[in-house]
Amino acid sequence: MSPRLRHLTTLEHLPRETIERLLDRAMAMRDACAHGTRKIDLLAGRTVLNLFFEPSTRTRTSFELAARRLGADVVNFDIGFSSANKGEELYDTLHTLEAMHLDAIIVRHKVSGTPDELVRHAMSGVSVINAGDGNRAHPTQGLLDALTIRQHRPDFENLSVAICGDVKHSRVARSDVHALSALGVRDIRLCGPASLMPDAAEFPQCRFVEDFDRAIEGVDAVIMLRLQKERMAQTDLPDEAAYFRQYGLDTTRLAKARKGCLVMHPGPINRGIEIASDVADGAQSRILEQVGNGVFIRMAVLGELLAR
Ligand code: NCD
Repeated sequence: MSPRLRHLTTLEHLPRETIERLLDRAMAMRDACAHGTRKIDLLAGRTVLNLFFEPSTRTRTSFELAARRLGADVVNFDIGFSSANKGEELYDTLHTLEAMHLDAIIVRHKVSGTPDELVRHAMSGVSVINAGDGNRAHPTQGLLDALTIRQHRPDFENLSVAICGDVKHSRVARSDVHALSALGVRDIRLCGPASLMPDAAEFPQCRFVEDFDRAIEGVDAVIMLRLQKERMAQTDLPDEAAYFRQYGLDTTRLAKARKGCLVMHPGPINRGIEIASDVADGAQSRILEQVGNGVFIRMAVLGELLAR
């Protein structure tokens, strides 16, 4: 059996077995808390800190719900009102918070690599979970996307998946590729305008297809990404109407995918920019299912890292 994880900062290089164990655990959590009402006492007495230096709706809320459903105490560190705004160094903030006896720190930061920095500086006994660092990794999103796909299309070896949009700035795309390729998906297509595509050398396991109409042909799942303007240089900013014409997912494009293709998006969605409203809200959309799975995946990760 692959060893139990202490921290989760990336899915890169995680063995397939570990990823499958986390997905299986998430399914077990889902069954155990039928309709999300029941609590499980796995983490009673444990304290988890949400340390978000970037905005978040889904990820922060679902980590909080996940921790509470497992019986842990949750502290939300509000950066806006914290001494981080008075210039306190990250490590001083960390050590101050650690002195309050935490078991896990869930961190989101605009600088890639921050969670690993925290792992290096954290006191022993504290687990670090990455809730998104720069454009590098968003491991729980990668896991929840893999779980959502597995529920509908478990035959990963024969799956075709397109990830489309601002791949260059997307930590979600990176973690999705890591999860899906570890699980055996061989046909992963990355699609977007050249200015928003990463270096091909970073993704040797993927096919780069610039034309969205070709990229979506016959795929079983399409993962749409938001234009992450906050991470873009001014020169990378595309004209939104032109972008939608070339890279927006509408019903005509979706018809080119395999019948019943899963439509996914990590949120927040920008209607009419990367996805048409009728597709986002349509019968093939799994977007809200992804959100629901996010809670179970985060329960699974917290359980893996913190259960005694
Ligand atoms: C993503 C993120 O913050 O990386 N959102 C999320 O966690 N659900 C993607 C995004 O912001 O576009």
